[in-house]
Amino acid sequence: MMNLSGPAVAVRDLRVSRGGAEVLRGLTFEVPRGQVTGLLGPSGCGKTTLIRSIVGVQIVGSGEVTVLGAPAGSPALRRKIGYSTQSAAIYRDLTVLENLRYFAKVLGAGKGDAERVLEEVGLAGAGDRLGSALSGGQLGRASLAVALLGSPELLLLDEPTVGLDPVLRQDLWRLFQSLAERGVTLVVSSHVMDEAARCHRLIMLREGEILADGAPGELRERAGTVDLEEAFLRLVEERAESVR
Ligand SMILES: Nc1ncnc2c1ncn2[C@@H]1O[C@H](COP(=O)(O)OP(=O)(O)OP(=O)(O)O)[C@@H](O)[C@H]1O
Ligand SMILES: [Mg+2]
Repeated sequence: MMNLSGPAVAVRDLRVSRGGAEVLRGLTFEVPRGQVTGLLGPSGCGKTTLIRSIVGVQIVGSGEVTVLGAPAGSPALRRKIGYSTQSAAIYRDLTVLENLRYFAKVLGAGKGDAERVLEEVGLAGAGDRLGSALSGGQLGRASLAVALLGSPELLLLDEPTVGLDPVLRQDLWRLFQSLAERGVTLVVSSHVMDEAARCHRLIMLREGEILADGAPGELRERAGTVDLEEAFLRLVEERAESVR
């Protein structure tokens, strides 16, 4: 049963250090259910670290991360969360379908789930290919398919559209939208601002801090710009002026 009360994710004053530097500097926000929330910001701003903190695999310095009502990393969350890492994580010496059947078994997903997710990511024609024989974009989609196994309530996708052509990117964004319509919560990281417009809600990160948090239209309006790339740059300037 989906627990529909409360936000999917609640983060309170989260601080994380990596390699001796504080890379998340006191983040507080909530992720509403049944929406696509985009995590945007330049390389190194902390997107992957934040996603890892929500998954519960990151050592956090202080603060609280609550996921579907439980502390991040709780065993009860394992089957409710799908995570696809930034670098593809499938076995190279198994075929795509063998990978999916293996992970389906580990996750206790139903029979036929491997074929279902293969279709959803547009890899139905590549099920018999070895992992080692896939292109970068195919590898990324195979990892995404693993995250979809078992129909989790919350999907954390770290740059799922990197290396894809515009048609495939559009297909995946349609998939994300349709999952959200079915009540799934998605957190999708990207550093491509034109993808941001497809999200219900955006969290713009910069140097481990939240620069802005709101619907794409709100952020454009607040920055007084027509495009989100400009909005990001404008908000960076405003921040710099306010601390001067
Ligand atoms: N294993 C690690 N050890 C030490 N520092 C790390 C490690 N991984 C990341 N960092 C540092 O933490 C900061 C945030 O990194 P993170 O990977 O979260 O950024 P990102 O926004 O996901 O970047 P990208 O868009 O390039 O994937 C960076 O300054 C990075 O150098
Ligand atoms: Mg990253």
